Amino acid sequence: MYYPDTVVEEVRAANDIVDVISQYVKLTKKGSNYFGLCPFHSEKTGSFSVSREKQMYYCFGCGAGGNVITFLMEYENAAFPEALKMLADRAGIRLPEREATKEEKAAADLRTALLEINKEAARYFYYQLKGSRGGHAMEYLKKRQLSDETIKKFGLGYACISGDDLYRYLKSKGYSDSLLAQSGLVRIDEKGGHDKFWNRVMFPIMDVNSRVIGFGGRVMGEGTPKYLNSPETRIFDKSRNLYGLNVARSSRKPYLLICEGYMDVISMHQAGFTNAVASLGTAFTLQHGVLIKRYVNQVILTYDSDEAGIKAALRAIPILRDAGISVKVLNMRPYKDPDEFIKAEGAESFQKRIDEAENSFLFEIGVLRKQYDFQDPEQKTAFQNETARKLLEFREELERNNYIEAVASRYGMGYEQLKRLVASQAGQYRPGQAERNREPAARKKKGEKDDGNRRAQRLLLTWLISEPALFPKVSPYVREEDFTDPLYQRVAAMVFEQLREGRVNPGGILNHFINMEEEYRSVAEIFNTTLQDVSTKEEREKAVSDIVRRVKLNSLEQAGRQDGDLNALQQLLKQQAQLRTLHISLD
Ligand code: UTP
Ligand code: MN
Repeated sequence: MYYPDTVVEEVRAANDIVDVISQYVKLTKKGSNYFGLCPFHSEKTGSFSVSREKQMYYCFGCGAGGNVITFLMEYENAAFPEALKMLADRAGIRLPEREATKEEKAAADLRTALLEINKEAARYFYYQLKGSRGGHAMEYLKKRQLSDETIKKFGLGYACISGDDLYRYLKSKGYSDSLLAQSGLVRIDEKGGHDKFWNRVMFPIMDVNSRVIGFGGRVMGEGTPKYLNSPETRIFDKSRNLYGLNVARSSRKPYLLICEGYMDVISMHQAGFTNAVASLGTAFTLQHGVLIKRYVNQVILTYDSDEAGIKAALRAIPILRDAGISVKVLNMRPYKDPDEFIKAEGAESFQKRIDEAENSFLFEIGVLRKQYDFQDPEQKTAFQNETARKLLEFREELERNNYIEAVASRYGMGYEQLKRLVASQAGQYRPGQAERNREPAARKKKGEKDDGNRRAQRLLLTWLISEPALFPKVSPYVREEDFTDPLYQRVAAMVFEQLREGRVNPGGILNHFINMEEEYRSVAEIFNTTLQDVSTKEEREKAVSDIVRRVKLNSLEQAGRQDGDLNALQQLLKQQAQLRTLHISLD
């Protein structure tokens, strides 16, 4: 870790989680917790809870959870040191100079410098557009019906014709040739520096935190390439960024509109569809899907209506589905793209198309349909077989039948007939095709049982931190080693230590997991398992006894698999028998 644990803990403890999160999310007090709309997924009812006692947040809808530091990391998309710095500043704590390795420091400095350079360039292009030389660029944008407000909101600019204007400007700011070359905005050769972009209108590309990471530049009128884009650099990764997401993330709509290009995003935003984003000419990636999933569970594809757009949609649909996102496709015809549609028919008409957007499975079948000539019985049969095979993607019978019904009625097949065809296809069905995303049944069964045991372990920990008085009753039976999951065992050891010392602090425990990818999420889950609603003493005693028994039996079972000798086995059987009658009394 960059900072000593004591420093991290000091910063965490100085920032009350309810106060901090209240700055981002509207919270209402309910019982001992605070609730609000989850900022990490889209929802209408508040499943997002914040606990002052635990100094933790947890969303019962999407499972996001953590302490005040991880909240800032997730919300601001900040790295751990950045989040820690924000909180330290907020509480007036001075962080010690951290010891970074030389390489780390060089990499961080490079990123900072590249971000600065891109920001300077965006500013420069913007002033060029507004200045005396920007006249015809401004005219071009006006011809495309962009308002001054839109131009400002998206920071559009102009790279003038000279060929080294930006280079000279950035040099005057003191940046070295080598740094400028790494920004991708300038090419250096023996004759000096040359701007990559000249005589183009400029579209700054921003990350989710509105930091400029690259540019697209469009020729005004005809010319190739139509758009020129920044190359990938240390700060610009095309497969992980979406144009417009910095604005769309706070549109508070439950879905995003995904389109192909800069102008489509801008047109849609100007028409009030502020939830539009674009993947910018690059193929849609799983990382894009994962990024989107942080904000919404649903998207509507608004790709171009031409063949390239249809292909792009067919490629994006399975990727989005894999990321757990439900997909619909908007019918753009007879127009080419959202920009053209909105100009021709206006926002109301576009909204209507959004409302009518087609389920992505039916869209896929519709595209398939066009490849077959129904006049020819052979081709018609081939289409029906292919459709039946695709319907097998739905493993849930009810869902599958609903799709069978929809497809049958749309393509003039009988429902029963298509259902039989699907069933017969299932017979010849080769796993590894449609089923690639699903877990084999056997593995799932084991998973479920494991999950029952893991859930019992989580329940016990949640219960203990909510009610420390329970600890002396439980501790004769359960030790930290009884938590069979390695992560749970580490957490249990920390919880037990705190309980023994009489200071319970789940938010502090989470500090230990912050630098470990997503593990803090699992730990947050451990501390937020929903407790059974038990009121009478008898019910509580039974519930505690049941949980302790389950945790202990599972632990014994695991141990039994390891030691082979007879003595140990007898010991084990005895313990198991005792456990069956275990009763924890809460007097
Ligand atoms: P389009 O050719 O559909 O452009 O490319 P557009 O969005 O309709 O642009 P206008 O309305 O003619 O100005 C879609 C996207 O593909 C990328 C750009 O991101 C563009 O917005 N693209 C296209 C390039 O990167 N380079 C190109 O030469 C063309
Ligand atoms: Mn266009």
